[in-house]
Amino acid sequence: MDELEGLHQEVRGCTKCPLAQGRTFAVPGEGPRNARVMFVGEAPGFHEDRQGRPFVGAAGAFLNELLTSIGLKREEVYITNVIKCRPPGNRDPYMDEIEACSPYLDRQVALINPKVIVTLGRYSLAHWLPNAKISHAHGKPIRVGDRVIFPIYHPAAALHQPALRRTVEEDFKRLGAFLAGLGQAEEEAPPEEPKQLTLF
Ligand code: URA
Ligand code: SF4
Repeated sequence: MDELEGLHQEVRGCTKCPLAQGRTFAVPGEGPRNARVMFVGEAPGFHEDRQGRPFVGAAGAFLNELLTSIGLKREEVYITNVIKCRPPGNRDPYMDEIEACSPYLDRQVALINPKVIVTLGRYSLAHWLPNAKISHAHGKPIRVGDRVIFPIYHPAAALHQPALRRTVEEDFKRLGAFLAGLGQAEEEAPPEEPKQLTLF
């Protein structure tokens, strides 16, 4: 079993916080091991809990639409959440749940090593930039270490608020342009061939 699948299995069996008791399925995340872009939401909702997969309900349908609008295929990005088990009634996660669960997110990031992390909503943004305000940070890339964080409002919040929905759609356009620019820069200066690993 590869390391990422091992991590997914570990999450599926996790009992590190009380959210384990109310879940149908934990939702580790999904997508390719070598995804260049990672999307991180808040926590599974009703449908995600029932299926064990991230963003499969109404917010997921909107996310799929947004991905398509900038030419990204869902299968080429990695999608997960800060919290892997559904909080009862979709309430906001508690601090101790976030503390218990976020080491999984850090391990996912370390394994997948994405160039760009798109945070969906304020809990996800706070994982990397605890002092940032989403109202100020959304729609712009921010360098954090050797990665780029690209904050966007949560698509579920935007579903029923027309103004926020337009903001999210515009922010996705900016994300699309930013990713296209990254791709261009890499073509002009291709990364060095990976060094041969020397064993012994
Ligand atoms: N909202 C989230 O934050 N994550 C999901 O997986 C679904 C809805
Ligand atoms: Fe474990 Fe996270 Fe689920 Fe809590 S929410 S039981 S820490 S996987």
